[in-house]
Amino acid sequence: MKVSIIGGGGRVGSNAAFALQCAGIVSEIQILDANADLAEGEALDLLHGASSLADQRIYSGDYARAKDSDLFVITAGLRRKPDESRLDLINRNVALFNGILDSLKAAGMRRDALVFVVSNPVDILTQLAASRLGLPWSQVLGLGTMLDTARFRSLIAQELKLAPTQVKALILGEHGDSMFPVWSSATYAGLPLVRMPGCTPAFQTQVFERTKGSGAEVIRRKGGAGWAVGATIAEVIHAIALDRRQVLPVATVQQGAYGLRGTAISVPTVVGRAGALAHVEVELWPKELQALQASAKALNDTFAKVKRA
Ligand SMILES: NC(=O)c1ccc[n+]([C@@H]2O[C@H](COP(=O)([O-])OP(=O)(O)OC[C@H]3O[C@@H](n4cnc5c(N)ncnc54)[C@H](O)[C@@H]3O)[C@@H](O)[C@H]2O)c1
Repeated sequence: MKVSIIGGGGRVGSNAAFALQCAGIVSEIQILDANADLAEGEALDLLHGASSLADQRIYSGDYARAKDSDLFVITAGLRRKPDESRLDLINRNVALFNGILDSLKAAGMRRDALVFVVSNPVDILTQLAASRLGLPWSQVLGLGTMLDTARFRSLIAQELKLAPTQVKALILGEHGDSMFPVWSSATYAGLPLVRMPGCTPAFQTQVFERTKGSGAEVIRRKGGAGWAVGATIAEVIHAIALDRRQVLPVATVQQGAYGLRGTAISVPTVVGRAGALAHVEVELWPKELQALQASAKALNDTFAKVKRA
């Protein structure tokens, strides 16, 4: 599978490329960036490790060389400033993002290519990509709450001294202020997580608040997220490349599940070679369903502003 990372010279894109290289599953990784020197440097650095890691083609390129890609990952964008909400970034990022979408169209991307949006505000830009590119909803995915979910699981595991990969707990909704935890279906090694020793209501509140603040915490300490976001990007790409049909909290334009339609937001979604294959609607606690609806409303309000801008 050929993957082009637009913005791949930046921290998120290059860390994602490294995660893809370590796994060795995709065959071709192209790094594109407005800063061509940076793209070249990152591609070269990755290429130097190829003999130790995997037999892949890794290079920097341009839109003409990228047009036959199976998957475009868009990580180009401006970083969130400390204390800036993700939605505040929107006005700074939309024009840049539209330019990238237009370049993809002009280059003549394949009609069956998938577009995977990572740049923030990710839900809004995912919705924008689907409409501007005129692609079916299934071909446009956003990272959504993948990173929030990964942080949530890892922090729960750390605090309760559990094995991180056996913690299964979702964050759904907006990748932003209105995200919410889904305790109703959370498990540890197949057992109900809320019954594990230490998983008290106070702990639940505290670990969710820490998760929600994680993005700002990482920005404050090291300038921006990199390794974990790279790992979650690779997780989605591998589900696609290997047609794993895993249920992941990616953002897609909703088609009616949970009463949502037209909004790009994270709900449990089956991900395989053709992109987003289906939404999975399982019963949520009433307060979780209300939180999902509130999150969709917040995103709709913002998207309406974007369309007028
Ligand atoms: N969805 C998530 O969970 C998540 C998590 C972390 C970061 N992000 C977002 O990812 C984006 C990138 O973050 P970063 O830390 O890598 O920033 P960065 O500044 O390190 O990298 C951004 C890169 O985009 C490039 N770029 C800018 N305009 C471009 C254009 N028009 N075409 C091609 N490349 C262009 C820049 O040259 C730069 O190399 C931001 O929008 C950030 O908010 C999303």
